[in-house]
Amino acid sequence: MSRKITISIFRYNPNIPGDEPRMQDYTLEEYEGMTLFVALNEIREKQDPTLMFDFVCRAAICGSCAMLINGRPGLACKTLTRNLPSRFTLMPLPVFKLIGDLSVDTGTWFRNLQMRTEAWIHTSKKFDPNALEVRMPNEVAEAIYEPERCIECGCCVATCVTANIREDFIGATGINRVSRFMLDPRDERTEKEYFEIVGNEDGAFGCVGLMACDDFCPMDIPLQKQLAYVRRRMAKAGLKLDLKGMKIS
Ligand code: FES
Repeated sequence: MSRKITISIFRYNPNIPGDEPRMQDYTLEEYEGMTLFVALNEIREKQDPTLMFDFVCRAAICGSCAMLINGRPGLACKTLTRNLPSRFTLMPLPVFKLIGDLSVDTGTWFRNLQMRTEAWIHTSKKFDPNALEVRMPNEVAEAIYEPERCIECGCCVATCVTANIREDFIGATGINRVSRFMLDPRDERTEKEYFEIVGNEDGAFGCVGLMACDDFCPMDIPLQKQLAYVRRRMAKAGLKLDLKGMKIS
């Protein structure tokens, strides 16, 4: 049976002088299989063409539609309205710079993260485009695939207490990214080099362990496991330094 739903949406355009943050209600008819993506587009087409929100893929792949849905981070294109009450709120993700209404700039944040964590394979080998691909054991490829599934939606960052109070914290997504390269045998970085990137309060040791990131990752990436892996590697590196009283390699 169809019902009417009322969506209370955060409205604020920082580019309009004098605009004030406020909540605005939109009521529409729900139908079978309606996602928030569909509902928001319907609102924009039929009720309010000024409403700002982001979508690209509509299939939980691009990560651009993340928002706070009734206070919890999630992907609008993956959320069925029937799983929500007849009245609910939509807010932009915190932590990221607000572009307007539900649209935030995750791109700049993630670009900075890539640069800070040096998220590329570090190797001394020269690239030969004509060489055969180097084979990798299946279990290693599968272990790398797990963190690689991150779509950079920002849900884990938005829900993280530390990221909400410390702007330099790399968050679960950053730690996950580092774990991806630590697992990759082609990456020749030493433990010391990794320690410099992530062995600090802005990295693996800044997490206070509430693990909301793990609860709200829309891709179900085992973020807790990736954090434990990075912390173990960093603890071992730190221990080597302490016990031997010499530089870690
Ligand atoms: S639109 Fe791409 S993840 Fe939702």
